[in-house]
Amino acid sequence: MSRPPDASPDPPPSREVGERLARNRARPVVLSIRSLEKRYEGSDGSFLALRGLHLDVRHREFICVIGRSGCGKSTLIRIIAGLEEPTGGEILLDGKAVHGPGPERGMVFQAYTLFPWLTVRGNVVFGLKMAGAERERAEYEAMRWIDLVGLGGFANHYPDQLSGGMKQRVAIARALASRPRILLMDEPFGALDSQTRTRMQGYLLKICRRVDVTVVFITHDLDEAIFLADRVVVLPPRPGPVQHVMDVPLPRPRRREHLLDPTFIRARRHLDAFIHEDEPDDEPEVPVHGLADEVRDVLEF
Ligand SMILES: Nc1ncnc2c1ncn2[C@@H]1O[C@H](COP(=O)(O)OP(=O)(O)OP(=O)(O)O)[C@@H](O)[C@H]1O
Ligand SMILES: [Mg+2]
Repeated sequence: MSRPPDASPDPPPSREVGERLARNRARPVVLSIRSLEKRYEGSDGSFLALRGLHLDVRHREFICVIGRSGCGKSTLIRIIAGLEEPTGGEILLDGKAVHGPGPERGMVFQAYTLFPWLTVRGNVVFGLKMAGAERERAEYEAMRWIDLVGLGGFANHYPDQLSGGMKQRVAIARALASRPRILLMDEPFGALDSQTRTRMQGYLLKICRRVDVTVVFITHDLDEAIFLADRVVVLPPRPGPVQHVMDVPLPRPRRREHLLDPTFIRARRHLDAFIHEDEPDDEPEVPVHGLADEVRDVLEF
């Protein structure tokens, strides 16, 4: 793993956090990414999106994957979900190679993916029936998951009667209802306003404490990654092995005050150096022609 020259050393965890991280490391591996490669073939030649990627994710870990736009984060998660096949390497789930989608992998995307013609309950029931549950069992189970995400009073509402945050809570309930081994999330809160996003992060952590699930969560928001994760994985800007893995040196349960904690700020600065390494400083000059004189005076001041 390469380090940018200005990366500070990994921020040290407290004794309590160090012990929790050691317990995580002792857990069995659920998801294993082995020498993963993805090459897209197009009319104008081939394009390498991922190369030589290795990663082990342990039972009940919360992993956040970050990296520059276009570095292959969504490609990676789609391959883990079985929505795309890799052109090299493999994905092992509990030691077995996976091909194609399966109920042991739940997925939540950034775009709202609920069926608009089904109610909240109908959407969750649909997911359960797809995973093989009988109707009566599916109805009962669906209500348990809808209650868990705090939407018990909205079971008969349709998606267009819900806010963006509520839609994503239904999507989480639908993904979790079939009891996946891993929950795969690709910028699930990316379309939400910042207050709703903050609330959703809190909800997600609460839900994960109550459910036996391992999470791989893609985000481009460093604060979100540090707030949620046990480990933050940095993908390199050009296809290649994982650039860096940072143990998050914060205790659980996470609280909003942690965002102001010097440990949090140090962790953020640490990751920032990886994300912005070698970034060209090519901000275009903003032309001032056509502005009123008084505005130009202010800009040129
Ligand atoms: N179906 C496809 N065919 C050809 N190229 C693709 C395809 N899907 C993705 N790519 C390319 O692979 C690269 C990685 O794309 P990907 O969507 O995985 O990036 P990302 O890290 O998720 O970016 P962002 O942060 O903007 O969401 C990009 O250069 C993209 O253009
Ligand atoms: Mg993406």
